[in-house]
Amino acid sequence: MIDLSTLGCIVKENEPMAAHTTLGVGGPADLFVELETEDQLSHLMKLIASEKQRGEAIPWMIFGDGANLLVSDKGIRGIVIKLVGQFERIVVDGTTITAGSAAPISKVADISAKHDLSGLEGVGTVPGSVGGAIVMNAGTNDGYIDAVTHSVSVVSSVGEKRVLPHEECGFTYRNSRFQTDKSLIITGVVLSLKPGDGKAVEEHLAKVRKYRAETQPQGRSAGCFFKNPPGSHAGYLIELSGGKGLREGGAEISPKHGNFIMNVDGATASDLYRLAERARQMVREQHGIELEYEVRLVGEW
Ligand code: EPU
Repeated sequence: MIDLSTLGCIVKENEPMAAHTTLGVGGPADLFVELETEDQLSHLMKLIASEKQRGEAIPWMIFGDGANLLVSDKGIRGIVIKLVGQFERIVVDGTTITAGSAAPISKVADISAKHDLSGLEGVGTVPGSVGGAIVMNAGTNDGYIDAVTHSVSVVSSVGEKRVLPHEECGFTYRNSRFQTDKSLIITGVVLSLKPGDGKAVEEHLAKVRKYRAETQPQGRSAGCFFKNPPGSHAGYLIELSGGKGLREGGAEISPKHGNFIMNVDGATASDLYRLAERARQMVREQHGIELEYEVRLVGEW
C-alpha cells in the first residue's frame, strides 16, 4: 500500500463522503487527503505514479466543493484529494487576478467588483470553484470564463508543474481540454480583467442571485440534477411529466423546481439515483427526450 506519511498532511481513512457533499450522502473514501500547496500535490502525484510503475494502479480523484456530486453509498476506492490552503487564495494586482483552483468563483467575482474590475459578471453567479469553472468553461449569456482567462496552472498526473497559456486550454462552448485530458489537475488561474464600474457589477450579481433564491429550493441538493436539453428546460419537462413532489425513500423532487432532487429526510445515494432515473423515464416516455445528468456520479454503484 502507498505510504503517504511523507506528504506532511492529515490522511483520513474510510472518511464518510456524506460529510463533504451538499447532498449529505455518500459512503467512505478509502483515503482522504487535504493538500495545501502545489508542492504537496506534485509530491503525491509522483508517489502515485511510482506505485503505478511498480504495478499498483491506485485510483485517485480531485474533490472540489462537493456541490455537484452524487457519491454512491458504497463510497470511493483509492485516494480522494481535496485542495485547500494555497489553492483557495485570491490575489488582485492591477487588472489581473490570480486565484487558486479551489476558490469559489462567486467570491472571485465579488472581489473583482470591489476593485472596479469587469469581466466576471457572467461567471460570478455560477456555483462552484475556479477549477470547476475552467473545466466547464462556465458562464452565462453575460460572458464565459475563457474570455478573461490568461493562463491556467496545472500539476500533471506524474507530478510535473506547468502553466498553460489560454490557447492551450482548448476552450469551446461549455467545454475545455480538461474534460477529456484527465492527466492535468488545475491548481490555479490568472485572469485578465478590464477596468469597469464595480457598483454595476455588484448590482448585476445581486439581481441574478436574487432570482435564483426566489425560484430554487433551499436545503440539501446538488443544484440542478440534469442538463437542459437543447431548446428546453429539464425542470419544466419534469414538472410537465408530473414529477414534482415524487419521493423515493428520503429523496424528493422539489415541488419548487423540478430539476432539484433533494435529500429531505435522511436519503441514501440510492434513493436519489432511483428517483432521478424515475424522472428520466417519465420524461423519456412522455416527451421522447433523454435527460443527461449534470451532477457527476462518482464511486462504486
Ligand atoms: N420551469 C418550470 N418548472 C420548473 C422549473 C422551471 O416550468 O420546475 C420553467 C421556468 O418557469 C422557466 C424555465 O423553466 O420558464 C427555466 O427555469 P429557470 O429560470 O429556473 O432555469 P433552468 O433552466 O431551470 C438554469 C440552470 C441553473 C441556474 C438557472 C438560473 C441548468 C441545467 N440550470 O436552470 O443552474 O441556476 O438557469 O440561472 O443549466 C445549476 O447549475 O446547478 C443550476 C441549477
